Amino acid sequence: MRLRPLVRVCLSTALIPTFKVEDYIVVVIDILRATTSFCVALDKGVTEIRPVPSLRACRRLAREGYLTAAERGAQKVPGFDFGNSPFDFLEADLQGKKLAFTTTNGTRALWAVRKAKKIVAGAFVNMSVLLTWLRAQEEPVLLVCSGWKDHVNLEDTLFAGAIATELEGDFRVNDDATLIAMSLYQMAEHRKKYYLEHSAHFERLVELGMQRDVKYSLRRDLHPVLPYYKDGVLIDLLRVQA
Ligand code: MLT
Repeated sequence: MRLRPLVRVCLSTALIPTFKVEDYIVVVIDILRATTSFCVALDKGVTEIRPVPSLRACRRLAREGYLTAAERGAQKVPGFDFGNSPFDFLEADLQGKKLAFTTTNGTRALWAVRKAKKIVAGAFVNMSVLLTWLRAQEEPVLLVCSGWKDHVNLEDTLFAGAIATELEGDFRVNDDATLIAMSLYQMAEHRKKYYLEHSAHFERLVELGMQRDVKYSLRRDLHPVLPYYKDGVLIDLLRVQA
């Protein structure tokens, strides 16, 4: 009998070097808000998102015709087209456009896992599409929580727990980080917003008047896209394969 593949959770960007990412399909998670916003932008017709580490690199791509999105400390950086709010992209005309994107944690996590077998981005807003695709691959999965500046956060752990819980059965679970994430999800499943209310980034966003971003980012299956990272860009794999 064939052994079921593993599903594992990496609780923060700082822990990525403790995994051999080459052995896994990696799902990068930054619920508030980078991976949620990637899904919105791709669903709105962006043809490619180029995640970059610095504001400078983002500016350079603007000169090559890219639209630009830049966030630092959860705020839009002046001089760029967008910040990192899902609403920035929901409300914009993006059909056929290319987007350069830099954020504090999410884009950094993508860079850190670049040697993985395959890399996709996950969020509640594309959860079912992601689950269907992961099941079809039949390969070990590593759920990488971007966290906040190398620290663990609740919202990414919660989502990793949701994915691991859904995959259990088709996949094996054999480590404590995954069990922690699954326990968190089982506790918070029916009251996610309430549960996250005292989390650091929730409070940060609410202080900045971005409560609606949190609410939006916790809604399931609003954007049926699969952000797939290859050769430095994210594309919607479903659109490319259609
Ligand atoms: C990040 O990548 O650090 C973020 O998604 C932060 C944010 O804009 O809320």
